[in-house]
Amino acid sequence: MPILAPSEEALRSAAAALVSGELVAFPTETVYGLGGDAFNPQALARIFAVKGRPRFDPLILHIATLDSLEAVAALSSLDPGLRHKLDALCTRLWPGPLTLILPKQPRVPDLATSGLPTVGVRFPSHPVAQALIRLSTGVVAAPSANPFGYLSPTRASHVQEQLGDQVPCILDGGPCTIGLESTVLDITASPRLLRSGGTPRELIEGILGPVEGPPKDPGEVLRSPGQLQSHYAPHTRVTLYSQEDMIRLPYEASAAYLFFDGSSCDAWVQGLSLAGMPALEPGESRTERIAVLSQEGNLGEAAARLFDLLHRLDKLGASVIRAQRVPGYGLGAAINDRLSRAAAGS
Ligand code: TXA
Ligand code: MG
Repeated sequence: MPILAPSEEALRSAAAALVSGELVAFPTETVYGLGGDAFNPQALARIFAVKGRPRFDPLILHIATLDSLEAVAALSSLDPGLRHKLDALCTRLWPGPLTLILPKQPRVPDLATSGLPTVGVRFPSHPVAQALIRLSTGVVAAPSANPFGYLSPTRASHVQEQLGDQVPCILDGGPCTIGLESTVLDITASPRLLRSGGTPRELIEGILGPVEGPPKDPGEVLRSPGQLQSHYAPHTRVTLYSQEDMIRLPYEASAAYLFFDGSSCDAWVQGLSLAGMPALEPGESRTERIAVLSQEGNLGEAAARLFDLLHRLDKLGASVIRAQRVPGYGLGAAINDRLSRAAAGS
């Protein structure tokens, strides 16, 4: 299916497709979304069908002006304290990689929210996403544009490879700059993280003070229905290691390796040559099967490259992907979350 550069004309025809009930894949700063008109149940049903997504897993509604928030969220039913928190979050963190769970307006179709009394709303910062939403109906439902359970797409080509034959139009906005899905924060009661993501917890807590979550107990899965343990998983088996264990791994020709930073990779290569396993030189070790998320150990760069590198490693036919956990602060929490889910799926 056509991948279109986001010209004015392409945006208008993609918006018209949305208005007429068709689906459009589009870029956001987090990952590519599979969009449909949020108020059209047929379009919503098509999203679930194309993704193979269970109907119990609700969709995020995307808006491109703060005025549209009232159209989908029943703000008057929030108590004044929560309303104040909502205003602070909207002012400081929107547009951006943060989804807020709020009481839903009755006009939002139950299919969008999986019958829940709440709705997930996000105001993306990507200019192509904003233009598309504004030119269409103003509220676009969009999950990540991948088959259910598989890695999220961070490039138009990922969408093309995975869903291309089922999506009439893919808008190309280049590689996603954040590269991890939005953070999901429930503010219908005392604020609670449901999914770690592109907005670090520390940033939210700097505004609201301490927040709860994300849930660890599988019994809580229903409160955050999309957070099944096995998710974001490549087809190749993934196993995870601390830095200390990763740099002591033996070399296997059939395995793929995903290091956090260049110095960990170099330490591993040096260890191999000390142990009499040459073949690799420090700095010359970046073969197809040996990938580094961020040479300098920058978590933002690591996040932006995570899914792209996993997509690439997944195509090599390796027996296993051996991946290093990253430091757990800032965006590292969400990177480790996605790596753990990838490993749980194998
Ligand atoms: O960054 C993102 O959020 C991307 C881009 C396209 O915006 N979208 C995305 O959507 O990741 P999806 O469908 O892959 O993940 C949506 C998550 C799921 O974990 C879902 O359960 C949760 O949001 N969610 C949506 N509505 C909810 C609600 N009312 N209550 C609790 N969780 C909700
Ligand atoms: Mg998803």
